[in-house]
Amino acid sequence: MTELLSGFPLQACNTLGVRASAQWFARIRSHADLLAVLADDRVAGLPLYVLGGGSNLVLGGDVAGVVLKVEIPGRRLVREDDEAWYVAAGGGENWHDFVQWTLAQGYGGLENLSLIPGTVGAAPVQNIGAYGVEVQDCFFELTGYSLSTKETRRFDKHTCRFSYRDSVFKQEEAGRWLIGEVVFRLPKRAEIRTTYGDIERELEVSALPRTPAGVAQAVINVRRRKLPDPAVIGNAGSFFKNPLVSAALFEQLQLEHPALVAYHQADGSYKLAAGWLIDQCGWKGRRLGPVGMYEKQALVLVNHGGATGADVAALMQAVQADVQERFGVALEAEPVWW
Ligand code: EPU
Repeated sequence: MTELLSGFPLQACNTLGVRASAQWFARIRSHADLLAVLADDRVAGLPLYVLGGGSNLVLGGDVAGVVLKVEIPGRRLVREDDEAWYVAAGGGENWHDFVQWTLAQGYGGLENLSLIPGTVGAAPVQNIGAYGVEVQDCFFELTGYSLSTKETRRFDKHTCRFSYRDSVFKQEEAGRWLIGEVVFRLPKRAEIRTTYGDIERELEVSALPRTPAGVAQAVINVRRRKLPDPAVIGNAGSFFKNPLVSAALFEQLQLEHPALVAYHQADGSYKLAAGWLIDQCGWKGRRLGPVGMYEKQALVLVNHGGATGADVAALMQAVQADVQERFGVALEAEPVWW
């Protein structure tokens, strides 16, 4: 049975490495653990916060309430048919380890999402994505445990309402569910996706096989080169979403800035590379107090040591203000803020 711990330090539980503590903290290894916490008089009525790998989280200060650290284990083949393998994983499984395990079993599909920090249960919440693939592409269904009742509910792909770095769990269902298990549908005749330039180049340069495992290795190599390892320097991955703008605004910006990096979207809008916008404003490698924008990728905010949530907020606002002034584009922070 899980234990309720008071005044628990959270610095090691968030990859940005911000120092803060939780009024109450519990490790959740099963639905029964969650029900036990919900029934405990000491925490009745307090706000609940679900924590995965803490890799997309900014701690604004100490957390007044209960932090539920999801550690639900398990990986299994649920079933297979002629077209696909259906593979389930506990919400607390490490995402990258799970991806590597699927590849070792010979199931392709998730290779482009290698080395993304965090847990399996957190992956659908913000529909993690990289190198032309999003988790929704291989998602089948998940089991949510209600944070207020004893209910468990299945969410299929449709009810998750996935979009770019978004799902129903960041919108109307935010704060209501703990994700216990996720099932992925991994097609047997999947084709590798290497349209993203960096990956195609890496396959060639490193002479990697054009297989799911080869693509996984290419992604790992590229990510290791470009993105800071949270174990070495605190960060929460991309700190801003790539903003979506209208075709009209894109055309105007492109006239003024011919080198603008943008991706045409199916609905006619354009997604701008926020890293490029921030870089142009001179923030790449620049610091403000103990935090800064990473020297090799201006989209990643890094903690050079000892940062508080207020330091992170100050840099976020400074970057947003500069990009707004120079390009007239509003940047939205990607991480969840407690
Ligand atoms: N760029 C610059 N300067 C910079 C950073 C980027 O000019 O400092 C330019 C690059 O040259 C490139 C473009 O901006 O032309 C895009 O950069 P990159 O390929 O590094 O990708 P991104 O758009 O910055 C997104 C995701 C990443 C994901 C990569 C690869 C978002 C918010 N971020 O980054 O996801 O790994 O694509 O697919 O969509 C994350 O969400 O935490 C994350 C790391």
